[in-house]
Amino acid sequence: MTSEELDDIIRNQFDNTLDGTNFESLGRLYKGKVRDNYIKNDVRIIIATDRLSAFDRVITTIPFKGQMLNQVSSFWFEKTKNLVKNHIIDIPDPNVAVVHQCEMIPVEMIVRAYITGSAWRSYTKGEATSGIILPKGLQKNQKLDDFILTPSTKAVSGHDIYISREKILEDKLVDEDIYTQMENASIKLFKFAQNYCLNNGLILVDTKYEFGIKDGELLVTDEIHTQDSSRFWVADSYNERFEKGEEPEILDKEIFRGWLMDTYPDIFPNITPNQDIPPIAPEIKVELAKRYMKSYQKITGNEFKAEVSDVKKRIVENLKKANYL
Ligand SMILES: Nc1ncnc2c1ncn2[C@@H]1O[C@H](COP(=O)(O)OP(=O)(O)O)[C@@H](O)[C@H]1O
Ligand SMILES: [Mg+2]
Repeated sequence: MTSEELDDIIRNQFDNTLDGTNFESLGRLYKGKVRDNYIKNDVRIIIATDRLSAFDRVITTIPFKGQMLNQVSSFWFEKTKNLVKNHIIDIPDPNVAVVHQCEMIPVEMIVRAYITGSAWRSYTKGEATSGIILPKGLQKNQKLDDFILTPSTKAVSGHDIYISREKILEDKLVDEDIYTQMENASIKLFKFAQNYCLNNGLILVDTKYEFGIKDGELLVTDEIHTQDSSRFWVADSYNERFEKGEEPEILDKEIFRGWLMDTYPDIFPNITPNQDIPPIAPEIKVELAKRYMKSYQKITGNEFKAEVSDVKKRIVENLKKANYL
């Protein structure tokens, strides 16, 4: 398939993107920024929509994004299930994960192998992240000697607040025994994924894990190692670019934040919760869909077969077939 043919498929899928669902009989609906969650008894059905969020707002939809994200996450859950127990019960459709409903732990675990993003911004201001003070003289995007864990809690606004291990235990946000299990699980998962990615020419730069408790047992929940929860860089070009002080080649949605700020400097990054979302150019949507596809392919080693189709209809059929609807 030529690049132009792929562009056409993506454009033709614009009208089929999944912006949301409303399956009342599936359970109580919690609409996240990206995923529609249905909760019934101890089962949670997570439908990954094609919504794209940035600056804490849902901005637009991207063809095939939900399917790619759910499939990347499911791929990792399957690969790591013997390493760390996870919440997956069933994947009845490319966009859908059926999981154990857990009591969520109010601390998210972020693992970083490089200094970039918000940890870099804090570092330049001389601030610690989650109580961790890094050595002097680091450059932006530099590899750290060892992984660091920078746990965070969610503020009401949805923003993350970094918090130290000591404070987590002091405030009794998590039991020490459980917290230690979370640390070990995070490092195990991260090491595994980093090695796996490197073999596919990708650097897993940093990632976020969420955990929950089910029948007294710790499970890794939410999504893992996806383009929405992690940062990926292209391994080949990293060293050369780093030496020259250039930014690494990125596979995530970071370019979109840049596009928003360049195109609408009066609106982004400080968009408020009720402000209207400005028009999003089809070109940037096509570009993003291609990036998500490229990372899907790099990460999983599977080709992504983009086909114009009615996503919602397929989900309904698959949920019916598996007796969820
Ligand atoms: N196994 C689980 N049990 C309970 N809650 C979960 C589980 N897995 C994920 N979640 C929650 O489901 C939601 C997923 O939807 P998402 O679109 O990421 O929403 P949000 O905007 O809240 O991050 C998150 O709030 C996440 O914490
Ligand atoms: Mg989330």
